[in-house]
Amino acid sequence: MKAAGTDVIAFSVGEPDFNTPEPICEAAIASIRKGYTKYTASAGIPELRTAIAEHLRSFNGIAADPSEVIVSCGAKQSVYQTLQVLINPGDEVILFAPYWMTYRDQVNLAGGKVVEVATSAANGFAPSMDDLRAAITDRTRAIVVNSPSNPTGGVYSRQVMKEIAATALRHGLWVISDEIYEHLIYDGERTSMAALGKEIAEQTITISGFSKTYSMTGWRVGYAHAPNPVATALSNLQDQVTSNPTSFAQYGALQALQTSADEIAAMRESFRARRDLMVKLLQEIPGVTVDVPAGAFYVFPDVSTYLSDSCDDVQLVNELLEEVGVATVPGSVFSGPGHIRLSYAVSPDEIERGVARIGEALQRRAK
Ligand SMILES: Cc1ncc(COP(=O)(O)O)c(C=O)c1O
Repeated sequence: MKAAGTDVIAFSVGEPDFNTPEPICEAAIASIRKGYTKYTASAGIPELRTAIAEHLRSFNGIAADPSEVIVSCGAKQSVYQTLQVLINPGDEVILFAPYWMTYRDQVNLAGGKVVEVATSAANGFAPSMDDLRAAITDRTRAIVVNSPSNPTGGVYSRQVMKEIAATALRHGLWVISDEIYEHLIYDGERTSMAALGKEIAEQTITISGFSKTYSMTGWRVGYAHAPNPVATALSNLQDQVTSNPTSFAQYGALQALQTSADEIAAMRESFRARRDLMVKLLQEIPGVTVDVPAGAFYVFPDVSTYLSDSCDDVQLVNELLEEVGVATVPGSVFSGPGHIRLSYAVSPDEIERGVARIGEALQRRAK
């Protein structure tokens, strides 16, 4: 529609709207000029693995060694490889719904079975431990945790993380902790699963990357940190799949880790202002229910009052696009029907115009 000249406001894209910071680009260009354009070690250049281990120690509080860090072509590849390594056909993997749909497809690709544990906006999309325990069977092998969450923006409290850890330990389950939005927390504290103790660290694979924090989505650099036998398996698998992530992208990532805390905080504050604006405007639409999400850059409003048997969230999203030129994502793709996901990684002007258009379209439906 955009190509045809339609004025489309895209709240559908899961990436920051600013450019990759200049020093990161310069470092990658310099590495090309230096001739760092050949294969590297499959698990990544040693300098980057060392810098990521240092980041995991100082920022996340995880006792990481460079040998346990496997640099990949994005967090998505790390999640995929982790599931391939840990999951045998028929194994069950617990996902807290709503969840990033990639987890479901990747569990299926590993021959596993997804077991959903529902969460609700009422408790910030955090799981209840009774529900988690009820979902565990003798086939359960892993729990995926994604805090801050895509699509809800929910951030689990330290208490919830501790309870998940305790449950995983009691039942001998792996925890796959996707912390890619680790820098984008506006309210509340950040908790890394593997920082909660030595025991849970031995059962946790921490996954993160450079896409969201440094606006490097196209560079394709992410990583997994895992206890040594799992790290070795991840490295062996990656060796036969992609080999190393792109050499010069790794030098860019190395520079990214030098970004000052002030610069990251400025970006976070810019997202916070846009979050507040989008939530305020959505809350002004009668019948739309939305709480202030604590992290990431998504809001996940409940629009069920506007849905019916003949119009589910998928159809509503299609109509919003066709009628008023606003792109959103239906909640049901994340196993969160009755909602839509909007990214606020767009300009304040687009937020104002786009949410106004949604409001008008919904009001028209109500009539
Ligand atoms: C929860 C979550 N994990 C991982 C990713 C993928 O990150 P990467 O670009 O590093 O593959 C995304 C991207 O949308 C995401 O939302």
